[in-house]
Amino acid sequence: MLYSKILFWTSLAHNILGPNKNPADVIQQGMFFNLFTEGFELSPNLSEVYELALAYYESRILTKKELLKSSAYFVKVDGVFTNHFYICTGDPVKIPEYSSSRLKLFFINNQFRTGYSTHGLFPYRGKFHPQMIKALINIMGIKHGETILDPMMGSGTVPVEASLMGINSIGIDSSPFCRFMAQVKCDSLNINPICLNDLLKRYEKNFLAFNSCSKKFNDQKDVFFKNNFFPESVDKEKIFNLVFLAFLDSEGYAQRSKQKSHLEHFKSILERYFTVVNKILAVENHLKLEPLIQISYKVMPERLILKTIVLMGSFFLHPIVLPSTI
Ligand SMILES: C[S@@+](CC[C@H](N)C(=O)[O-])C[C@H]1O[C@@H](n2cnc3c(N)ncnc32)[C@H](O)[C@@H]1O
Repeated sequence: MLYSKILFWTSLAHNILGPNKNPADVIQQGMFFNLFTEGFELSPNLSEVYELALAYYESRILTKKELLKSSAYFVKVDGVFTNHFYICTGDPVKIPEYSSSRLKLFFINNQFRTGYSTHGLFPYRGKFHPQMIKALINIMGIKHGETILDPMMGSGTVPVEASLMGINSIGIDSSPFCRFMAQVKCDSLNINPICLNDLLKRYEKNFLAFNSCSKKFNDQKDVFFKNNFFPESVDKEKIFNLVFLAFLDSEGYAQRSKQKSHLEHFKSILERYFTVVNKILAVENHLKLEPLIQISYKVMPERLILKTIVLMGSFFLHPIVLPSTI
């Protein structure tokens, strides 16, 4: 049903656009007013016809108040900035001076596309565009407090977007690394940042410890906790996971780019990750958003019986066969 509706609006957008398929050109030609009434300002970098269709659909389904709160494709409605605008802007991400202009452009251009919020931690090429997910959640009419399931969550785009919208989510993936990455992206929406500066100063010590100890995840964690002091108010598991993801990310960069050492990559990636955490926290405080607490299952459940579980947050499970009674 939803799919056929989207096809309908996409084909409508195609008809309105005619042979010229670039939304930017269409908007310049004044066609904007054929799709939207006055007072709507679209996100920059909107470049696909389907995005224009989703924006159009959002504008028809949501009230202006709802659009200000959760729209995915508008930066202003009636002169007021949307929450999406604040989530996507703020300080630009920190990229080291020596980075290639291609890499810098990638991060800058992605602020309104795939890199906002915590989606840019460990850039995962196979992920959904987060704003597309947000728009689909809006269009499907899923509301605050309801629950959404992504059986192949990959990097966790759906749980992250759901969490920011106050929607519960269940994320499943067969890849342990994807589950780890998704967990970090969700947890990083809600990290106490008091230790981050100290950790940045101690990047070299932590790097050497990660590199010299056994590659087992729990060994790395033990060494990290031994080397760093955390006050009780800090969830040290979340901090370890974030720093360790940065370390794994830096391994990839070090293999691809030999211009800088692994240590230098680690430092700059850690700095970028911490900027992301501080930035999303500032936005959440400003907008009074309370991302949902995420719970990660460490054990393999035999099966998931949704009807008997009270869903209080997002659950990350091993792949399972859902019983047919669901
Ligand atoms: C293209 S990715 C999904 C990306 C995701 N939409 C995102 O935004 O990050 C597909 C994911 O499906 C997972 N997958 C493939 N087969 C699966 C299965 N049988 N059960 C659970 N997950 C599976 C893969 O590990 C991979 O992470």
